[in-house]
Amino acid sequence: MANREQLIVALDYDNTADALALVDRCGGDVIYYKVGLELFLNSKGAVLEGLKERCKKIFLDLKFHDIPNTVAASCRWAAGLGVDMFNVHASGGADMLCRAREATDEGAAKSGFKRPVLLAVTILTSLDQEALSQVGFAGPPDENVLRLARLTHDAGLDGVVCSSKEAAMINREVPKPFLTVCPGIRPKWAQKGDQRRVMSPAEAITSGVGAIVVGRPITRAKDPQAAARRVLAEMGV
Ligand code: C5P
Repeated sequence: MANREQLIVALDYDNTADALALVDRCGGDVIYYKVGLELFLNSKGAVLEGLKERCKKIFLDLKFHDIPNTVAASCRWAAGLGVDMFNVHASGGADMLCRAREATDEGAAKSGFKRPVLLAVTILTSLDQEALSQVGFAGPPDENVLRLARLTHDAGLDGVVCSSKEAAMINREVPKPFLTVCPGIRPKWAQKGDQRRVMSPAEAITSGVGAIVVGRPITRAKDPQAAARRVLAEMGV
């Protein structure tokens, strides 16, 4: 049985007021929101407070990728912001992932917040086989995704951001509990936009995706709350 928190709405806005207006329009139907680099930077982080005042859950999608020491320090700060989930890049390597894990625990313990769910991005879904080989990754995308998902699991992280097409493979091959969070979701009634390999909310939940990230089909809808309700109904919530 799916639940409401398995829908994460992507707040891709260039200002805080529009982002929070969307949150208010969706009301109690949407619990979880994703804040990426654009909104985090243009709001100078302030959007997080607006979301917390509205008792919303936050996925801070900043995708840290740097040397282990720098990523660890960033994770400590992120965990101290009281967000519910955030992420790093798995291709930062095993040491970086382990340090991210430890620093997240430390940051949460020090600030008194609950430890956020820590995810790693496997392979960006915008990279096809040719683009991957250009940056030195041999083999097809799904082999790389699985290798990085295993690395993420072994470093003690909670799950990965991946394509919904890869979630079933990861669920099969990586020991549980291990969360898959998937963008590239399009209800049958929504435009694909720039997303190519898409799945519907129902298909994603059926194939074992832990949480779906949906942006424009909800944020650009004439009635965002009605669109969110349609997505939730398709998920079986
Ligand atoms: O509007 P749409 O539903 O395409 O938004 C999807 C969200 O997920 C955006 O915030 C986008 O940056 C993010 N995302 C993605 N594909 C990835 C990783 C993140 O679409 N591979």
